[in-house]
Amino acid sequence: MSATLPSSSSPLLLALREGTRECHKALEARLPFFATGFDTAAYSRLLQAYYGFHAPLEVRLGQYQEAKRAKIPALTLDLLALDLSTAEIDALPLCQALPTINDEASALGVMYVLEGSTLGGQVLKRAMAERLGLGPGNGTGFFDVYGALTGHYWRSFLDRLGRAPSAAASQAATVQAAIATFQCFERWLGRRGVLNQG
Ligand code: HEM
Repeated sequence: MSATLPSSSSPLLLALREGTRECHKALEARLPFFATGFDTAAYSRLLQAYYGFHAPLEVRLGQYQEAKRAKIPALTLDLLALDLSTAEIDALPLCQALPTINDEASALGVMYVLEGSTLGGQVLKRAMAERLGLGPGNGTGFFDVYGALTGHYWRSFLDRLGRAPSAAASQAATVQAAIATFQCFERWLGRRGVLNQG
């Protein structure tokens, strides 16, 4: 029966949403995008910290992720647009405490977080255009990495989620990897000093 379920209501997706709801809320509350005084310099520092997490994680996703979902090229262009040099980008500190990816189940959990963030990215892209005058061609390309295809990419990821093995243990491993991704990212951003104080 489950093969006929629309992927938007697959049990795994529901478990991922349920399992990461609090993590998303907590991280969103600490991210400074909407803080008073948040300016382009602060945005650049935040994006540099994003790079330090996403660049090594994207490498680790390796063969589990289709090449077309690569987001680091867009993030690199954003940093160049924000006046970092290639040498400065190459020298950015990289997170060592990344979520473990050792099978399809864990890769799917990590990907859920990264792919899902392209949805919230649409909100951030619009907000940064309004607040900082930045666009996908000069600083917010990462948040709009799939452009007009954002919905299409999300639905095709959900199709893949819908085809994941239904064994309870592998679904639990996917949810655990998603939670770990949020936690590692929040810890890393905290260590880089780019989250809201308090
Ligand atoms: C201030 C920052 C953020 C805002 C305002 C925000 C906002 C949102 C919004 C509005 C959605 C729902 C979009 C939709 O259904 O079309 C969403 C979904 C999501 N966001 Fe965020 N987000 C933020 C940061 C993040 C970050 C940093 C991550 C992960 C690294 C993330 C991961 C996700 C995921 C996984 C979903 C998909 C939930 C689902 O539909 O299953 N978000 N976000």
